[in-house]
Amino acid sequence: MKKSIASAPGKVILFGEHFIVYGGKAILSSINKRITVETQSSNSDKIEVSSDLGAINVSKSEPVQNINPIFRPVIHVAQKILKQFNSNSGLKITIRSEIPAGVGLGSSSACCVAAASSISGLFANYSKEKVLQLAIEAEKTIFENVSGADSTVCTYGGIIEYSRDGKIKKLDFVPKFQLVIADSKIMHSTSQVVSKVKKFKDDNPQVFSTLGDKEASLIEETLLALKKNDLNTVGAKMKQNQAHLEKIGVSNDLLGVMLDAVNDVAYGAKLTGAGDGGCIIALVDDTNLDRTIVALRSKNYECFAAQIDTSGVEQKMEGAS
Ligand code: PMV
Repeated sequence: MKKSIASAPGKVILFGEHFIVYGGKAILSSINKRITVETQSSNSDKIEVSSDLGAINVSKSEPVQNINPIFRPVIHVAQKILKQFNSNSGLKITIRSEIPAGVGLGSSSACCVAAASSISGLFANYSKEKVLQLAIEAEKTIFENVSGADSTVCTYGGIIEYSRDGKIKKLDFVPKFQLVIADSKIMHSTSQVVSKVKKFKDDNPQVFSTLGDKEASLIEETLLALKKNDLNTVGAKMKQNQAHLEKIGVSNDLLGVMLDAVNDVAYGAKLTGAGDGGCIIALVDDTNLDRTIVALRSKNYECFAAQIDTSGVEQKMEGAS
């Protein structure tokens, strides 16, 4: 039986989280930790999905609103593709992930992108643009206002510059750095942290506006430094970005202690994503990668090294037809 196998990378926000919600820019990077989705046709009239998070077996016509949100986007993609290609078969979908879930590393977007590519690949050869469109549509079954930035970087790989008005630009160079990503193990809800920042902004409009202007200049300076692969400057900008995030109240004591553990060995470090928990990222290269990992592990913080993924979503067929 032929199988369509696709994988897509996770992501981190390098700069600009929260300020982007109010019109700023953000810089996102894909990371070389991937989600893989395998799809096969089946003789049943069901869509079966299995993953580390559980399994589901639903009718091809089940309304998606009735489906467990964990599986809803994948089922949406499966139903849409089966309908589009007038297929009578069922589908067997298997998901495997190297990306920790729910800590801001883009696992749900990467899953939508890999699913769109894997399931469509059984019937047609979709362009990356078409895969991305379908992945964003799938994400919207969970979160109507999704920005599409995560799915974009998971589809194309590399580093993207993204602004709230929907402008997305892939950088035409790939800086040479690595990241050490450490998980605080504190669960957070992006929407709750976004609401908390809104309250801070409403209570302190002048402070927030000044910080937003500083963040905007910082991002322009960072883009220049990235182009020159000037890691000392990029690291210093990460520390400044972290200070802005602390001022708007989205860091916490544990994230602060984790950052202190790496600040003297890495070029720079900051929280990534919504904050109040989740992960920190530290900027390194071959000269300080091992020392940064040791600095975190010696204090019992779980961490791993990641590089920029340059390929984005990839799909292949296996097995006889
Ligand atoms: O938690 P993450 O990595 O999905 O990041 C949220 C980023 C915010 O700027 C806080 C919110 C947003 O919608 O841009």
